[in-house]
Amino acid sequence: MSGRRILVTSALPYANGPIHLGHLVEYIQTDIWVRFQKMRGHECHYVCADDTHGTPIMLRAEKEGITPEQLIAREHVEHSRDFAGFHVAFDNFYTTHSAETRFFADDIYTKLKATGLIYPRSIEQFYDPVKQMFLPDRYIKGECPKCGAADQYGDSCEACGAAYAPTELKNPRSAVSGATPVLKASEHWFFKLSDPRCQAFLREYTQREGKHGTVLQNEAANKMQEWLGVPGENKLTDWDISRDAPYFGFEIPDAPGKFYYVWLDAPIGYMGSFKNFCDKRDIDFGAFWKPDSDAELYHFIGKDILYFHALFWPAELEHAGYRTPTRIFAHGFLTVGGLKMSKSRGTFITAHSYLEQGLNPEWLRYYFAAKLNGTLEDIDLNLDDFVARVNSDLVGKYINIASRCAGFIAKRCGGKMADLSVKDAPAATDFALFQASIKECQERVAQAYEERDFSRALREIMAFADQANKYVNDHKPWELAKQEGKQAELHAVCSLALSLFKWLTAMLAPVLPRLAESAALFLNLPGLRWTDSCSPLPAGHAVKEYQHLMQRIEAQQVTALIEANRVSLEPAAPSPQRHAQHQQSSEDKQQQPSEWEPFIGIDDFSKIDLRVARIVKAEHVEGAEKLLKLTLDLGSETRTVFAGIKSAYDPATLAGRLTVMVANLTPRKMKFGLSEGMVLAASSPDGGSGIFLLAPDSGAQPGMRVK
Ligand code: MSP
Ligand code: ZN
Repeated sequence: MSGRRILVTSALPYANGPIHLGHLVEYIQTDIWVRFQKMRGHECHYVCADDTHGTPIMLRAEKEGITPEQLIAREHVEHSRDFAGFHVAFDNFYTTHSAETRFFADDIYTKLKATGLIYPRSIEQFYDPVKQMFLPDRYIKGECPKCGAADQYGDSCEACGAAYAPTELKNPRSAVSGATPVLKASEHWFFKLSDPRCQAFLREYTQREGKHGTVLQNEAANKMQEWLGVPGENKLTDWDISRDAPYFGFEIPDAPGKFYYVWLDAPIGYMGSFKNFCDKRDIDFGAFWKPDSDAELYHFIGKDILYFHALFWPAELEHAGYRTPTRIFAHGFLTVGGLKMSKSRGTFITAHSYLEQGLNPEWLRYYFAAKLNGTLEDIDLNLDDFVARVNSDLVGKYINIASRCAGFIAKRCGGKMADLSVKDAPAATDFALFQASIKECQERVAQAYEERDFSRALREIMAFADQANKYVNDHKPWELAKQEGKQAELHAVCSLALSLFKWLTAMLAPVLPRLAESAALFLNLPGLRWTDSCSPLPAGHAVKEYQHLMQRIEAQQVTALIEANRVSLEPAAPSPQRHAQHQQSSEDKQQQPSEWEPFIGIDDFSKIDLRVARIVKAEHVEGAEKLLKLTLDLGSETRTVFAGIKSAYDPATLAGRLTVMVANLTPRKMKFGLSEGMVLAASSPDGGSGIFLLAPDSGAQPGMRVK
C-alpha cells in the first residue's frame, strides 16, 4: 500500500461568483480524501485553480467597469480566503489565466490538430449587431417555440422544459443589448469526437477497470453508454472548441481573432496548476502526466460536468499523447431542506457568510462527511439534523470522552498516564480488548475513506465512540474519585479513556483537521499519523491542560445564517455560465434539481382526499400557544382539527367560513385531543408574513372534493 503517488483535483470554480455551500460539498470531500491519503504516508498532491475565461466573466467585468484581469484577481483572493476558512488545503490554488495553462492548451491543440482531430467548419450563429458579438445561447431570450412562454433562454424553456436551438425562439432578442440578433456565419474549430479513434477509445475507457477500480462509478458509466449509443452507433457529435472575439481567453495561435472555448482550457488548468506547483517544488511533472505514468490521477467533480470530464477530456489527453485520469469521482448536488438552494429562501448560503456568522467550519465538514457515500446521489443539508448530529455525535460522543476524564488526570493523577500494560493492573483487560478492536475498526474506517464512503467511516468511528462512552459510564470516574482506595483505578480508567480519545482523534483527523490539531496539543503529541493511531498514550506520558475543544451549535445560529443569506425577491439573475459554455448535451443541464423536485405523479396527488369543509366552531385551547380547535362540517360528518393558526385568526371571525381540509390524514393524538385532519393555509417559508387560510369560491358545499 505504501509508495503511491497521487495527484488529485477538484473542479475549478468559476471566477465570477462566490464560493457557496454547494461548492463546498466538492472541495471538503476532496480535501478529506487527500488528507486521508497524506496521513497514510502516500505522496499526494491536491491542486485546483480558478476557472477564469469565457463570456460571462468578460461581460461581468465590463459591467463593473473593471478589466477581466482585475475581476479574476479579486475573486482569486476571495476564493482563497473561503477555502482556507473551511480548511480546504490545496497544495496549489492557481488560475487558468496563466502561462502554464496557455502552454498546455497550445500544446494539446497543436498535437490534436496534427493527428487530424481538429478541423474548421463555418457555422451560423446569432450575432448582436449593437454589441457586435456572437451570443451564447444563454444570452438570447425570446418566446418558447413549443409553449409560447415569454422570456425564455435560447437553449431551453423553463416553463415547459422543451430544449431547442436559439434560432427556433420566437421574437429573439439579445440579453446583452436588447437588440434583435441576426444570423451570421463564422469559422469555428471543431474537435472530432465522432472520429472512429475517439469512439473506440471512449467505449473502452468509460468501461475500464484498472487496478485501482473502475474509471467511472457505475451510474456514470451507464450515463456514458447512453451518450455513446449502442456499439456501432455514433451518437457523439463534434465539439466546437473556438469562440470569436470579443472573448476573454487565450487566442488560438494559428487562428487570429479566435479563442479557445473556456471548456477547452478549463481542465487543462489542472495541468497548468500542477506544473506551476512542480516548478516551485522541484517535482517531476512528466512523471505524473506521461502516457505510461504509474502515478494515479483523480478528478473530483459534480455530476453536472461529467460529460466534459469523462468524454472530451480523456479523448483530448489520449490523442495528444498524455496519460488519462485513473478515476473520475462524481458527486451529487447539495439541497437544503430537500430543495434546491434558493436566494429568496436564504438557503443559497455563501461560504463567507457562514464563517462571518461565526459558525464553525468543522461542523459543516462533519455534516457533509456524514452524508457523503461516494455515489452520485444528491446531498441534503437538513438544518435541524445538522444541529442535532453535530451536537450529539461530535460534542456529545467524541469530545465528551476527553472532557469527562481530562480533569481527573490533571487534578488527581499529576497530568500523567497510568501504565495499562502491566498484567493485573486495573483496566488491563479492558485495554487489551480495546486494542484488539481498534485495529479492526481502523482498517474498516480506512477502507471506507479510501472508497469515499465517508458516511460509513463516520458510522464506524461513532460506534467506537459509543463503546468508549459506555466504558466511561460503566466505570464512573466521578464516583471513583470520591471513593477511598480507588486512586489506581481512577487513574487507569481515565488513562484508557484518553487513549480511546486519541484513537478516535486520529480517525477523525481527515474530516476535522483543526480539531485534531487542538486535541493533539492537549494530548501533547506532535501530530497524528494514521499508522501510529493504534498505539496507546504511553505510561508516564504527560498531557497538557484541557481546554474545551468544541462548542455546541445553537439553533439560533442557523436561523441567523439563513436570515443573513435571504435576498428579497429580485428578477432571477441570469446564470448563463454553465449553459452558455457548453452546448453539447442537454442531459447534464437538467441535472440541477429544480425548486419543485422531486415531482410527484398524478397518482400520488390523488391519494390526498381534499374536501371543502365549513368551520362550525373555532375555540381557543387552554395552554396551547399556537393552536385553535376547529369543528368542521364535512357534509356527511363532523371532524375536530387542531390548526396552528392562532397567531393569524380571532376564533370569533372563523365560524361559518368555508375552507379546504385534508380528509384522509391519519388522525393524530395531540396533547389537547385527537386531530382528525388538517386545514390548508398559505405562509412564507419562515411564516414571517402571516398565515392565510384557504377558502373556496362561493357556492362550494361542505364535502365537495377538491382536485
Ligand atoms: N468551472 C466549471 C468546472 C471546470 S473544471 C475543469 C464549473 N464551475 S462551478 O463553479 O460551477 O462548479 C465547481 C464545482 O462545484 C463543480 O464540480 C460543480 O459540480 C460543483 N458544484 C457547484 N454547485 C454545486 C452544488 N449546489 N452542489 C454540489 N456541487 C456543486 O462547473
Ligand atoms: Zn415552453
